Amino acid sequence: MIIKRIIIQIGEGVELSRRELLGAGGAACVLALTGCQSVSHATKASASAAPLLLNFNENALGVPPSCMRALSQQLPQAFLYPDAPKAEFMAALAQYHGVTAEQLIYGNGSSEVLKMSVDAMVTNAIDNAGAKVTEIQLVMPDPSYGVVADYASARGVKVVAVPLNSELQIDLVAMQAQVDSFNGCSIIYLCNPNNPTSLLMATDPLQAWLAQASVKLQFIVDEAYGEYANPKTFVSAVAAVKAENPYLVVTRTFSKIYGLAGLRVGYGVAHPQMIVAMTRQASIDNANLAGCVAATAALSDNTWLALSLASQARALALVTQTLDALGLKHLDCNANFMFHQVNGDTDLYQQRMKAAGILVGRKFNHTNGWNRLTLGTPEQMEKFCRTLIQFRQQGWV
Ligand SMILES: Cc1ncc(COP(=O)(O)O)c(C=O)c1O
Repeated sequence: MIIKRIIIQIGEGVELSRRELLGAGGAACVLALTGCQSVSHATKASASAAPLLLNFNENALGVPPSCMRALSQQLPQAFLYPDAPKAEFMAALAQYHGVTAEQLIYGNGSSEVLKMSVDAMVTNAIDNAGAKVTEIQLVMPDPSYGVVADYASARGVKVVAVPLNSELQIDLVAMQAQVDSFNGCSIIYLCNPNNPTSLLMATDPLQAWLAQASVKLQFIVDEAYGEYANPKTFVSAVAAVKAENPYLVVTRTFSKIYGLAGLRVGYGVAHPQMIVAMTRQASIDNANLAGCVAATAALSDNTWLALSLASQARALALVTQTLDALGLKHLDCNANFMFHQVNGDTDLYQQRMKAAGILVGRKFNHTNGWNRLTLGTPEQMEKFCRTLIQFRQQGWV
């Protein structure tokens, strides 16, 4: 039997044969990258004419096939508490980051790690700096990922949202001024790359500020999209954790590039002292077997990472070309979403896209006229581009 070698060009410098894809990355990737919809979206689409989901920054390629295999092998063990798969996962993570198991904490998604971080930092401020809750503030960029503000408010902590600067960058100078003018303990939340802008923070000022961490100045750095970021310009704050900085937490997730949002796997990297403080805030047995098993498989699936990055690059190139042709500005992209102008009210644009069968991001503070667009498969983005061009013909963008 002749096996046809089909080369699929999915992005600059990444070429995989169909056999390689099926063997290592799986059918979902072949479908997604050759123009059919990903397995997850295709399934939803066949159930009902489901909208195109370009709103929540999930990995449009679906679940890595390596994870599906690992899950089907390990699910019969689900009657047991997940100690063994969790230990295996944490050991793999420790090796991946070059840290010890004592520098890691598991979360039911990184959202839970963010909550534990806020709770531990508030407790640190009260126990170790003698602060009252009214003397603790959370300082965060606006817009950014908002749940940390909810967690802080729930603890009675004042939230100060500092608008992005005129280039839509996180305004470190203004955030530092807010800290300097406050006579209490500050918890700083930074999202790098930032959601919704997809922009990276400048490394030197970030690292210089992180180096000043203390019980009165604690940092949470959210790197949910770090794996997508430009490796030439992105420096993970895990390096600062390794420098024995006890008042810093870096959060990461398997919900984005690893395609496991529904299994709820996130983690934090921090000094052992901070991990102990966070563990006191966590619920017992917050890990689940499926999440641990799938995440362990995903962590070593380099083919999946390469496919996801190649798909993202191709999708980005398609959208960039269209936005440029339409004269719509867009920001540098360091995630599986981009931020671009829509020449009008964002809510109206979002509603019109919805009517056209495409769900895009919502309106964010201070950025009306811009939209966050999740980068789906190249084929999905072709549909988006065709729709955007039709919107221009209608005079809507
Ligand atoms: C910046 C950022 N951080 C954290 C999260 C939470 O992700 P999860 O709880 O699924 O790990 C998200 C989800 O969209 C996000 O965009």
